[in-house]
Amino acid sequence: TSQNGADQPSKKELFTSSGFILAAIGSSVGLGNMWKFPYITGQHGGAAFFLLFIVCLLITGLPVLLAEMTIGRSGRRNAAGSLYQLTGNRFWGMVGLLFILTAFLIMSYYAVVAGWTLHYTVESFTGLMFGEGTDYKEKFLDFASGYLPIFWQAVTMLIAGWVIARGVSGGIEKFNKILIPSFFVILVVLMWRSLTLSGAGQGVEFFLRPDFSKLDAESALIALGHAFFSLSLGMGCMVTYGSYVNQKQSLGSATWAIGFGDMLYAFIAGLVIFPTVFSFGLEPGEGVGLAFMALPAAFSQMPLGFLFGGLFFLLLSIAALTSAVSILEVPVAYAMERWKWSRKKAAVIVSGACFVVGVPSALSVGGVLGSWQPGGKTIFDWVDFSTAYILMPFCGLIVTLFAGYAWKRAGEAAGLTGFRYRVWMFLLRVVAPAMIVLVFLYFMGVISV
Ligand code: PHE
Repeated sequence: TSQNGADQPSKKELFTSSGFILAAIGSSVGLGNMWKFPYITGQHGGAAFFLLFIVCLLITGLPVLLAEMTIGRSGRRNAAGSLYQLTGNRFWGMVGLLFILTAFLIMSYYAVVAGWTLHYTVESFTGLMFGEGTDYKEKFLDFASGYLPIFWQAVTMLIAGWVIARGVSGGIEKFNKILIPSFFVILVVLMWRSLTLSGAGQGVEFFLRPDFSKLDAESALIALGHAFFSLSLGMGCMVTYGSYVNQKQSLGSATWAIGFGDMLYAFIAGLVIFPTVFSFGLEPGEGVGLAFMALPAAFSQMPLGFLFGGLFFLLLSIAALTSAVSILEVPVAYAMERWKWSRKKAAVIVSGACFVVGVPSALSVGGVLGSWQPGGKTIFDWVDFSTAYILMPFCGLIVTLFAGYAWKRAGEAAGLTGFRYRVWMFLLRVVAPAMIVLVFLYFMGVISV
């Protein structure tokens, strides 16, 4: 028998066409869109940066997305097994293991952050979060440094594991079919609320006024790195989901749909977050600060704030959970094929292992392990840094080299011919690898711009 299960029969579990698009959008729309994107956009020239982001999506994100889905659908295996299956070459099977490792590590800490959003959802709806004179920064740090985050991390792993255990169409697809439309409704309600606040215009302006003078080489690299993370690339997620796509589906149109959905959500998220923050005269802090410190302060001051706050964190929770499911499926699919485990067994064992590995991350955000900072970073920051800036770009590079050079039948499998094929290949062989290497060197501090 082979290393990665190349002897197994084709997968029988498949998504329906619309189910696949929804699940892929669910994967790409995550915590990244909801707080990271608006923030970096505001900092790097508003609408000008948004245009740059779209360019990065077009020339690197979408070509790699199409490559990942094509590899999955043709290989019909897990992320590592598909590379092996398509070439019969052990080397690619081994390299593909990096996808599995990356996804496992990302899941371990993504579940921690997803857990925070669940806690905040409950605290908002019940009104427990808000009070006269509360310092929301202190409140967040109090929470994050205790043991409660481990409980919510466990809840996240239980939900994700449960969905995965129910299978591709009965679990993943159904989950997304229920949550993504709800997500959209909540998003529209919140957008209406934020845009009708007095002083909302200032926030819209911060987000969208194009300032081309703020664009530089650094903005380009940040836009590119974000395009990658935002589309869930570089960790085998889209390879794994691609392996459940039926043969008739057009992967080209799926690529456009997913890219557009991701961009649209990021855009609307900005229209929710900035007007809300600005209309209460708050500072749009970075990342964690924005969602967990500045926004609760804003909600505490508006009428029915507990309701809008609750809806906002529910929105974040949904975004996080639909992404978490897609990440967890990568190692679960691997375990099922490599060790011939049943789906249930794989879901239970992998979620359990992921939970255990994530506990140190949960305890290092100001908690008992927070003061242990080898090399100046907490455990949480190390896992984040090594996956987002080292493993993901590396895996992305593998995809471009595999589909661009090693596997000769990519065009046929993707359904591209003639001019469109040549454009795709040019982006995949030349532009994307060059961009990925630049981003990698930049974030590693090897080059500065
Ligand atoms: N795309 C998700 C986001 O924007 C994150 C993610 C990365 C999900 C990798 C799956 C895989 O938050």
